[in-house]
Amino acid sequence: MADLTGWRVLVTAGGTREPIDPVRYLGNRSSGKMGNAIAREAAARGATVTLVTTASPPDFEAEIVSVETAQEMAEAVWSRVANQDVIVMAAAVADFRPAHTHSIKLSRSDGPPVIELEPTPDVLAGVVERNAGAAVVGFAAETGTLDRAVDKARAKGVDLLVANDVLADGSGFGSTTNQVTVIMADGSVDPWPLMSKQEVAARLLDLLSKQRSGLD
Ligand code: CTP
Repeated sequence: MADLTGWRVLVTAGGTREPIDPVRYLGNRSSGKMGNAIAREAAARGATVTLVTTASPPDFEAEIVSVETAQEMAEAVWSRVANQDVIVMAAAVADFRPAHTHSIKLSRSDGPPVIELEPTPDVLAGVVERNAGAAVVGFAAETGTLDRAVDKARAKGVDLLVANDVLADGSGFGSTTNQVTVIMADGSVDPWPLMSKQEVAARLLDLLSKQRSGLD
């Protein structure tokens, strides 16, 4: 199937790593599997894909931009917003980073460090600001309830928000499956069954394809 031929799709994947010193970082448990699955599916269906990722490069045809921090992800994504048809923000981006990165390894003998944090750039907010016509998809990893997700979809200004409960069976970080709930811009909520991340990717692209053909 080459139904996405002519589309330009940008996907973020993985979890950012914010350095404390040359050895340690603040990170999160995102594996990059969901973003990878979306990028893989889009490429297989004929799209021109850019994958901005903290994970190791995948084995399909795409422009791969390797990043580590939220700042690097922001710069990589913001410079590529123009001309995209779809932007999918599947990465788990740190909200805070150490305010100072030590240039040499902190030593145990110095005792427990106090690590002051500062906010990172909101990559998605910057995308929405710069966007000129792409469909923007946000992700929300929640814990225990999706109650906040409808408000989040509205606040973020996305066309779709894909929310999941990372504590639910089969939906955790690193899992090959996911049970997601899709929230539309109008606030309507559609819980999808548990399926493989590849199936979630296919269904998400089907939905975007249907929405965009409605626009054309
Ligand atoms: N995101 C981003 N830049 C950040 C933080 C989050 O681009 N600094 C993006 C994520 O890629 C995701 C969406 O924003 O697509 C929602 O992320 P989430 O962490 O759920 O939202 P937050 O605004 O951080 O809300 P909260 O911390 O209250 O859950």
